Amino acid sequence: MQHISVIGAGTMGNGIAHIFAQKGFIVNLIDTSAPQLDKALVTIARNLDRQVARGHLTTEEKTAALGAIIPHTTLAGGVAQADLVVEAATENIELKLSIFRQLDEWAPAGCILASNTSSISITRIAAATRRPASVIGMHFMNPVPVMQLVEIINGYATDPAVTRQITELSEKLGKTPCVVNDYPGFIANRILMPMINEAIFSLYEGVAGVREIDTVMKLGMAHPMGPLQLADFIGLDVCHSILKVLHDGFGNPKYAPCPLLTNMVTAGFLGIKTGEGFYTYTPGSKDLAVSSRFA
Ligand code: CAA
Repeated sequence: MQHISVIGAGTMGNGIAHIFAQKGFIVNLIDTSAPQLDKALVTIARNLDRQVARGHLTTEEKTAALGAIIPHTTLAGGVAQADLVVEAATENIELKLSIFRQLDEWAPAGCILASNTSSISITRIAAATRRPASVIGMHFMNPVPVMQLVEIINGYATDPAVTRQITELSEKLGKTPCVVNDYPGFIANRILMPMINEAIFSLYEGVAGVREIDTVMKLGMAHPMGPLQLADFIGLDVCHSILKVLHDGFGNPKYAPCPLLTNMVTAGFLGIKTGEGFYTYTPGSKDLAVSSRFA
């Protein structure tokens, strides 16, 4: 594999393009918005600079990585030579189904079609194509250059040879692959989201405050971030939609999103991306202040 196409120049698409380019692949980064592509390249350059500053990369390696990323605003042009496509568009089922239908038209025969979806069924995405055996989940974690895991999800029809190829490729990226099957939330979010939801219920029921809940989990369980800070980092809208996938998929009330989470999402308090969730965020500052609504 040499040519990788990444669809979507948001946080996850940036990170995925970054790590492939850093490891010597040619990356076609596709987004319908040219300004979003420009912004993505600035972000990737800044993140590569961090690695140079910490001695993980040389300046030459940084320049080579940036030079290996080719921006595209059309899907047909961006995937024409792809050996692998990694779709990291917005987490919306209709959008993903439409992208995979188009990929089926334009990606070369033999190209593997992967989705970075955090919870949408790979089997359902694969069924939108005439090549379900070549469709697989390749779920990276944020921030992609730092996090070790790639959760690989086998759809019902995924060819085991495709799983082997994606496993080996993930190892080439310096990541640790973990293969799981396609059921709601896979493994990562089936376990993570109920923990986050329980933390929000604990706050909602007045068991403890934001700082206390996060401190218990950080210091008591050695988590790098407490669950409420992590929810802000992931995006409360994303957490809410994954919980709905679990709730709908299993029909079990234990996955129902906490009403406080639903209210926050409805009101547009989505965490870091909107400047306020359980904490408030000031651009350029690392200070973590509990939102005045929970103080
Ligand atoms: N690109 C490159 N390097 C980066 C980076 C990026 N985007 N972000 C952070 N880093 C590097 C920093 O340069 C630093 O490097 P050194 O260790 O060499 O000094 C290191 O990562 C740590 O960063 P910071 O010092 O800025 O901050 P920190 O120590 O507080 O760590 C964190 C930040 C890595 C995000 C850490 O808090 C963490 O691991 N948090 C949990 C993240 C997590 O759980 N992610 C998964 C979310 S779930 C998901 O993504 C999937 C889903 O489906 C919802």
